Amino acid sequence: MFRAGLIWLSERPRLFGLVRRNGFARRMATRFVAGETLDAGVGVVRDLNRAGLSASLDLLGESVRDPAEAGAARDVYLRLLDRLHERGLDANVSVKLTQMGLDVDEALCLENMRAIVGRAGAHGSFVRIDMEQSEYVERTLRLFTERLHPEFGNVVGVVLQSALRRTERDVEDMIALGARVRLCKGAYKEPADVAFPKKRDVDACYVASMERLLERGNYPGLATHDARIIAHARAFARRKDVPPARFEFQMLHGVRRDLQHALVGDGYRVRVYVPFGDHWYPYLMRRLAERPANVAFIAGNLLREWWRGMRGERGRGKGEG
Ligand code: FDA
Repeated sequence: MFRAGLIWLSERPRLFGLVRRNGFARRMATRFVAGETLDAGVGVVRDLNRAGLSASLDLLGESVRDPAEAGAARDVYLRLLDRLHERGLDANVSVKLTQMGLDVDEALCLENMRAIVGRAGAHGSFVRIDMEQSEYVERTLRLFTERLHPEFGNVVGVVLQSALRRTERDVEDMIALGARVRLCKGAYKEPADVAFPKKRDVDACYVASMERLLERGNYPGLATHDARIIAHARAFARRKDVPPARFEFQMLHGVRRDLQHALVGDGYRVRVYVPFGDHWYPYLMRRLAERPANVAFIAGNLLREWWRGMRGERGRGKGEG
């Protein structure tokens, strides 16, 4: 219920102006977002690389309705790929199709994606197509399997969400195609006819899909902070003789850094998803929805700020008196 409320709020972009002006919300966003500029994103990647982690950079933004806005986002990705290449950084990029104009015109979206994936290929990099709400899954997979993958091969990969009932089937299709898959649980609120309402079913689907990808997939990205599932992946890979170089763990910037570093210490590959840009509101709300403790943390801080403010007021009052 609570989670659903936060996800509902994440889909109300008009609230963004209000939230963006709030100092504490901005500070909270910096826990999950590298910063508002490309330089801030690249700076975080440099630090991650120094600590033995790789990265995937994401320019925040989705549901773009204006072709010029989609073109501007494409150009940021092109500059970003050039910058990562010039600096020799170990990072690829993650892109949302609705940011590239999927809601405006599929042909426009495809052209923008072709430019980005083409540039990534020229630099020996890689583009991951993030997966959005279930209403986009079919179109995203079609664009990937019929257009982008045939043209660019494994310079481009997709994401599958274990929350969706269709995913085990999609996993098999992607394995047959030899496509690179990032497996996640899914960050969106979905209707019960397309998604599992119970978390234990989402987790079970994750484990079943993960095992198939580890055994037969092409360099899967296991995107989760779920320590139990990560332990299962490690044990399964050992049992099936899948070496750590054949897959990678992926986690979000600002979430379970302890686990990220512990895995690197144990010889596993870890890629951190690093969002940057000024459209951070829906992303922040989804991160809050994933963990109620984050909201308690925010509420605690707001109360503390308010209390400090009150004391400051009173303190000033005394001094002035
Ligand atoms: P789960 O939600 O069960 O959490 C397991 C544990 O992880 C929690 O108990 C807590 O300790 C920790 N944790 C999880 N989220 C946290 C948070 N926000 N703050 C603090 N601790 C947290 N989704 C999608 O729909 N499309 C996509 O393309 C992507 N892409 C993507 C890339 C990468 C690299 C990651 C890691 C995740 C995504 N996601 C995504 C998001 C994903 O679907 C999911 O919402 C989150 O990863 C949370 O799910 P977990 O697998 O971590 O498990």
